[in-house]
Amino acid sequence: MSEDVIFSPLAWRNLQVKNRLFRSNISGRFDNEDGSLTQTRINWECQFARGGVGAIVSSFVPVQMEGRIIAGYATIHRDDFIPLWQRLGEAVHRFDCKYILQLSHSGRQMDLPGVHNQHRRSLSSTDHQESLHGFLCRAMSEHEIERTVQAFADGAWRAREAGLDGVELHAANGYLFTQFLSSAINDRRDRYGGSLANRARFLLEVIRAIRERVGPDFHLQVKISAVDHNDILPWERKGNTLAESLQVCRWVETAGADALHVSVGSLFPHPLNPPGDFAFDTIASTYDAMLSAGTNTFRNYLLFRYSSLRWIFRWLWSRHQRGHAVEGVSLDEARAVRQAVDIPVISTGGYQRASLVREAIASGACDAVSSARALIANPDLPKQWQVGQDEPARPCTFCNKCLLNAPKNPLGCYELSRFDGDHERMIATLMSIYDTRPELRLPSVPPAQNP
Ligand SMILES: Cc1cc2nc3c(=O)[nH]c(=O)nc-3n(C[C@H](O)[C@H](O)[C@H](O)COP(=O)(O)O)c2cc1C
Ligand code: SF4
Repeated sequence: MSEDVIFSPLAWRNLQVKNRLFRSNISGRFDNEDGSLTQTRINWECQFARGGVGAIVSSFVPVQMEGRIIAGYATIHRDDFIPLWQRLGEAVHRFDCKYILQLSHSGRQMDLPGVHNQHRRSLSSTDHQESLHGFLCRAMSEHEIERTVQAFADGAWRAREAGLDGVELHAANGYLFTQFLSSAINDRRDRYGGSLANRARFLLEVIRAIRERVGPDFHLQVKISAVDHNDILPWERKGNTLAESLQVCRWVETAGADALHVSVGSLFPHPLNPPGDFAFDTIASTYDAMLSAGTNTFRNYLLFRYSSLRWIFRWLWSRHQRGHAVEGVSLDEARAVRQAVDIPVISTGGYQRASLVREAIASGACDAVSSARALIANPDLPKQWQVGQDEPARPCTFCNKCLLNAPKNPLGCYELSRFDGDHERMIATLMSIYDTRPELRLPSVPPAQNP
């Protein structure tokens, strides 16, 4: 199997990786309220490093507290968090696995504002509320944009100081960068809105600021939505086309990015990202946590909760999935990006079968693939491929229960059929990464004062 293209090493400008399978970004609530990361996150990430992936691209890591999607995700907004990220990097490196930190900002796509963002409109390119959930927001001033550009550069610097192997800008899936890039969302009239060049200005300024702060030899990749498909609700505009995104990718390359990670969709989740089923029973039991987060959430909750109404949402969602296979859902877009630029391309979306991945890479559509759910289900997927198995014995069913549990419950696989219907075994697997320290430390108390 040594000649298998999946296991041939990558030698990019600033990153060497032992194979072509990256663990794609997966967010979960493992960390402390202040954004400091925990042992549980280290345990979570090490499952995939141990399982044999060449590199891990982290969860959504906010560069500012006002850019969180949900509280309880590790952040990179403070210098004193550098040693914590360093520990995580060291842990993953023990398995000869690289660690790329995803620098992120929610903008208006903030699912659960948390105590830091409560009762405040989130920042965005626009004053218009997000269309699906009705998250309220306000357009950033130029001063706020400048401050945010700096926050991304500082985050990249902290990642480098922590000894991590690179950073990824989360410029996909509806978060702050998409809110600037997308013609369907950005309605500004200043130099950050209007033409494609203006809409791309914020992203390009961040790339240049990062290069200025960390120099040319630190890996920097950009996750991008190649097509917006913004019209989940039929009255919304479609947003950016493939041709527009290809131009953005060329500018991103010129500004100093080392690689592109290709996704689709101008919101998250989206019918095509992650592709697969929509688990109504799951979302009906978790979406209540978001009821106060947006002006449309109560309407959506009713559509999820009552089976007689579910057809409405099912129709809206599945309309976009027609004609798209789950496996390799955005491979065509990755291929188009790879033809448009000279930097390497990672394709994400539905990779679980070795034969498909082999074909994707060998055909030149991409240089590597990233996988999220297939690895949640089977963290040792690369090892299974290495011994010649095409697909795991208990594959991910792409049910999306892991995703739709995320607002309320721990991250992990919730597909009971994969545990032979054994609920206890499923819970035990979910809990297996949580840290139970043998001793609890008590605070020191000053000696009692004499009256
Ligand atoms: C539970 C869950 C959390 C995710 N969190 C993130 C995230 O924080 N950042 C991101 O860019 N993508 C995130 N994604 C998207 C994945 O990285 C991936 O691109 C997408 O799921 C398609 O890959 P897959 O079919 O292998 O799951 C998440 C997906 C899932 C299922
Ligand atoms: S819950 Fe499990 S089977 Fe379903 S998509 Fe997530 S990882 Fe795959």
